[in-house]
Amino acid sequence: MADDRKWALITGATGGLGSAFGLALARRGYNLVLTARNTDLLEAMAAELRSHGGEVVVEVADLAGPDACLRLKQALDARGLFIEALVANAGYGVQGRFVSRSRDAELGMIDVNVRALTDLSHVFGSAMAEHGGGHILLVASTAAYQPVPGYAVYAASKAYVLAFGHALHRELARRKVAVTVTCPGPTETPFWERAGHRLNPMASAVLMTPEAVVEASLKALYAGRPSVVPGAANKLITLSTHLFPRSLLAWGASYFMSNAK
Ligand SMILES: NC(=O)c1ccc[n+]([C@@H]2O[C@H](COP(=O)([O-])OP(=O)(O)OC[C@H]3O[C@@H](n4cnc5c(N)ncnc54)[C@H](OP(=O)(O)O)[C@@H]3O)[C@@H](O)[C@H]2O)c1
Repeated sequence: MADDRKWALITGATGGLGSAFGLALARRGYNLVLTARNTDLLEAMAAELRSHGGEVVVEVADLAGPDACLRLKQALDARGLFIEALVANAGYGVQGRFVSRSRDAELGMIDVNVRALTDLSHVFGSAMAEHGGGHILLVASTAAYQPVPGYAVYAASKAYVLAFGHALHRELARRKVAVTVTCPGPTETPFWERAGHRLNPMASAVLMTPEAVVEASLKALYAGRPSVVPGAANKLITLSTHLFPRSLLAWGASYFMSNAK
């Protein structure tokens, strides 16, 4: 019955992974709150997801704003919605040399990928802990495992998400809030076009579909795992980062993440 459904909040719900999370959670019987900046895309997504039988609410928000997450929580409180599952998925990367790019562009990535994700985890995580439980999925990247020249801030922002999520996993376990960090490798979404990046054959060889990434991520979340790297090739790549010094990893990553000729 629709009334018994739990609510899930998905940030970055207009994107490749966000849309796939929406579909997967609707199929699992959740009502959904979708958020991002693009109203038309959010409304189109909501209309499609309502056909799965649950309620879908749209909240437009620019998460780069300092109080955006708190305002989002207040808007959902005003609607009387308790968020049982948070998918902190909104994020972006832009390719380029750090000093050649604008300060605003570089700091904007920290605002969305780090600050907003932390704030969302705080405002919704506290409510879950008080309410007796919940689920938080934080979207990082395989870029979290090594420095990536050309994506210096992006990779560092995802390393933050991985470390932060592992700590929260332990802290919140006793409050019955499951926290999992997912670290996808290259995935077929608009991310790359937005980043101004044409994947080279090496990176294309491990490209995954958003649906496969989402399935592995949700499986890990509901199994109570602290983190997951979707895909066997990505697992091998991230495992191998434990064998080499950071200087060598940075050299390798600059080849892996170079543009296609
Ligand atoms: N695709 C990959 O290969 C890959 C690999 C590893 C990790 N990831 C991570 O996966 C997550 C989802 O990315 P994606 O691949 O699905 O790319 P995407 O299609 O570009 O989706 C990014 C989403 O983030 C939202 N967003 C960006 N800036 C925002 C802001 N200031 N406020 C609110 N929402 C904002 C976008 O919506 P609006 O533009 O409408 O606001 C969009 O819905 C990101 O965290 C990304 O870092 C992706």
